[in-house]
Amino acid sequence: MSGPAGWAVVTGASSGIGEHLARGLAARGHGLWLVARSTEALEKLAAELRGRHGVPVHVRTCDLADPAARQVLAEELATEPVSVLCANAGFPTCGPFSENDPAEERAEIQLNVVALHALTQALLPGMLARRRGSVLITGSTAGCQPVPTAATYSATKAFANSFAEALHVELRGTGVSCTLLAPGPVRTNFYAVAGMSGLQDQAFLAWLTPQRVAEAGLRGMARGRRLVVPGPAAKAQYLAGRHTPRPLLFPVLRAVVLPVFRSARGATRTPDFRK
Ligand SMILES: NC(=O)c1ccc[n+]([C@@H]2O[C@H](COP(=O)([O-])OP(=O)(O)OC[C@H]3O[C@@H](n4cnc5c(N)ncnc54)[C@H](OP(=O)(O)O)[C@@H]3O)[C@@H](O)[C@H]2O)c1
Repeated sequence: MSGPAGWAVVTGASSGIGEHLARGLAARGHGLWLVARSTEALEKLAAELRGRHGVPVHVRTCDLADPAARQVLAEELATEPVSVLCANAGFPTCGPFSENDPAEERAEIQLNVVALHALTQALLPGMLARRRGSVLITGSTAGCQPVPTAATYSATKAFANSFAEALHVELRGTGVSCTLLAPGPVRTNFYAVAGMSGLQDQAFLAWLTPQRVAEAGLRGMARGRRLVVPGPAAKAQYLAGRHTPRPLLFPVLRAVVLPVFRSARGATRTPDFRK
């Protein structure tokens, strides 16, 4: 039994936006497959959601940055009648690119790009055959422009943003939708993972809660929307990042982003972007 609303897969369900996507989907009657690396957090959430909403919840511990583990999971999920995929798991690396750990940079691309691509590819054929399904991809306003000191992260999110919007158009009329959720700053573990906890003290960033972002994403997904950017500040950031000519944008990034980065991270070196 899937729950009255069908099965939903949520990656990155152990915390932050993904946890609240799972909460919102369970409240809407979806059975769940919860995916992340932290088994304990997933099991705790699963027990709570089963008890509170009476839906079935499966836990799949998987390092989605590991191609072999990811393939096993993708093959398993491809045989299930999944009607919702929230491809949400992701993490940032921050700092001057040349100083970042190459293994972490590779894992970031594996997770933020390859895993979301592979899981979507695995689950779409079943959705299309059933003429029913929704894909929600968590991109970011960071994907609207290059972000110095988050070069790899912003590039991975540019992929997520573009991929989701292309699929949205491609899937029209099939009974399956694809929605891009592109948040601005959200208070989650995300910044601690990047060694940037200090950013959370920056009051000028318009912080949203993960509950609000997840709910906005689920509402947009239910309506088959192309794009959800929660909150007015993030909407402004999204538009500015997309449409400001680069010769105007880069001096602003240099003046605003690099000092904020330095104070948040205590960097020893700041790249020179004037060249
Ligand atoms: N917070 C923001 O300001 C913000 C803004 C825009 C976009 N986003 C995007 O929102 C998404 C969710 O991030 P969040 O803010 O909710 O951060 P978060 O609380 O750190 O959540 C990240 C989730 O991804 C999972 N994850 C990380 N590495 C993984 C791996 N190798 N394999 C499987 N799962 C993995 C984590 O679980 P485990 O550690 O248990 O594996 C966790 O459940 C990300 O794609 C992020 O890029 C965040």
